[in-house]
Amino acid sequence: MSNVRTVGVFAGSLRSGSFSGRIADALVALAPVSLTLTRVEIGALPLYNQDLDTETPPATWVGFRERVRGLGAVLFVTPEYNRSVPAALKNALDVGSRPFGKNVWDRKPGAVVSVSPGSLGAFGANHHLRQVLVYLNVPTMQQPEAYWGHVAKAWDETGSLTPIMRELCQGFLASFAAWIELVGRG
Ligand code: FNR
Repeated sequence: MSNVRTVGVFAGSLRSGSFSGRIADALVALAPVSLTLTRVEIGALPLYNQDLDTETPPATWVGFRERVRGLGAVLFVTPEYNRSVPAALKNALDVGSRPFGKNVWDRKPGAVVSVSPGSLGAFGANHHLRQVLVYLNVPTMQQPEAYWGHVAKAWDETGSLTPIMRELCQGFLASFAAWIELVGRG
């Protein structure tokens, strides 16, 4: 697998200052030396429409597909919209999955973090996303699961990540690095 150490980080929310975007940035900043984490934006992708998936698809789709194809692994940080993933994230997954037979997610080691200001930690979104990743053939880390509730408390009054969250992020990334090492070969 090419470039196994470069991990694309996809945040499911498009809003500025979103909790999931901020957690994605925190994970990027806390990456272990063995991994390079890089944010991949999904907000500019036109809604998937098979009529547009011709010999000349939208340039943003082409660029996105190439970007994902070059990644060694994928990390999703998603909020929950109505017990599922936000449409923008599902759209990005759909865009990368087509045309048929050219799924750019195929065999990329993956991991999911779900976040919510509520107490359930976006469990529903996490598992809806996992269902899609099964079909897309993304071997997704099972443990540790990451349903991070009360996410507004992840930062102190100065805007710094709390020590507990820092430890949680670092532990999660260490496990993901080991997972990539395990399944990202060949
Ligand atoms: C939400 N929110 C929400 N929260 C949750 O825990 N479970 C849910 O099913 C939903 N549903 C939902 C639907 C829609 C359309 C919106 C806009 C919001 C609240 C959500 O967790 C909260 O707005 C987060 O702050 C969104 O994530 P970001 O943008 O902060 O990353």
